[in-house]
Amino acid sequence: MDYLIRQAASLLANARRLVILTGAGMSKESGIPTFREAQDGLWATYDPQQLATMQGFRANPKLVWDWYRYRLQLIEQAHPHPGHLAVAELEQRIRGVVVITQNVDGLHESAGSHDVLELHGSIRRFKCLRGHNGLTMDDLTGQTESPPRCPRADCDALVRPDVVWFGEQLDSTVIQRAFLESEACDVMLIIGTSGVVHPAASLPYQAWNRRARIIEVNPQRSELTDLAHIFLQGTAGQVLPNVLAAMDGELIDR
Ligand code: OAD
Repeated sequence: MDYLIRQAASLLANARRLVILTGAGMSKESGIPTFREAQDGLWATYDPQQLATMQGFRANPKLVWDWYRYRLQLIEQAHPHPGHLAVAELEQRIRGVVVITQNVDGLHESAGSHDVLELHGSIRRFKCLRGHNGLTMDDLTGQTESPPRCPRADCDALVRPDVVWFGEQLDSTVIQRAFLESEACDVMLIIGTSGVVHPAASLPYQAWNRRARIIEVNPQRSELTDLAHIFLQGTAGQVLPNVLAAMDGELIDR
């Protein structure tokens, strides 16, 4: 493993343009559950059709709103872990770094990453069903209804979280840039995603086709592991600080 970590550190140290693609596993050590893990993934307990589709929201808006409130509360108590901090630190060491995340928790920004593309939106932002975007929790204070109503003049439509649900389009500006960055990078670091949800899962193929080197960090093999030139089997919080240490020549042989 130390040999692989050194190889990854060397690739990263020499990267000209680095894309870091993250999924739910990135935030697991901050106490935020993943989706597809058999024991404790959210989709093992909850039904995505009910909770993460527009049809589900129209059928039972209170159920969906209350579930997202519960997840938001969990996320608001969470802090970035050493893996998030290592991702942010890479920005200080390599000139062109962009983080492309499927996570809606905002923990990369909290850790200090500046260029973050949130493919699936943000659980901290809201929009109404008539298309008023950019609402924050502050805009909704004082409302006791679940879900609240749009506070914009003459609107009153139901408010929902500004996240991407199944069957919905991603923000076109965000996904277009994600594809361009993935085509332009010479190294892609993939952390904590099962690689089954598209279009996010297509990005590593774009990078691979343009001959980028692919490094993956995950305790389990994923749908993307066969693409990886270096597979670092372990958790984000354990592996990423070791990669930084190896970049500093400080990885101690065990
Ligand atoms: P998944 O739950 O599908 O996959 C999580 C991945 O993280 C798995 O491959 C785990 O092995 C890995 N993992 C677990 N613990 C880890 C750790 N400590 N460090 C690193 N990796 C770890 O989550 P995503 O791939 O992010 O979309 O799922 C993609 C999308 O599906 C989500 O954005 C969400 C979901 O439905 C929407 O809600 C639209």
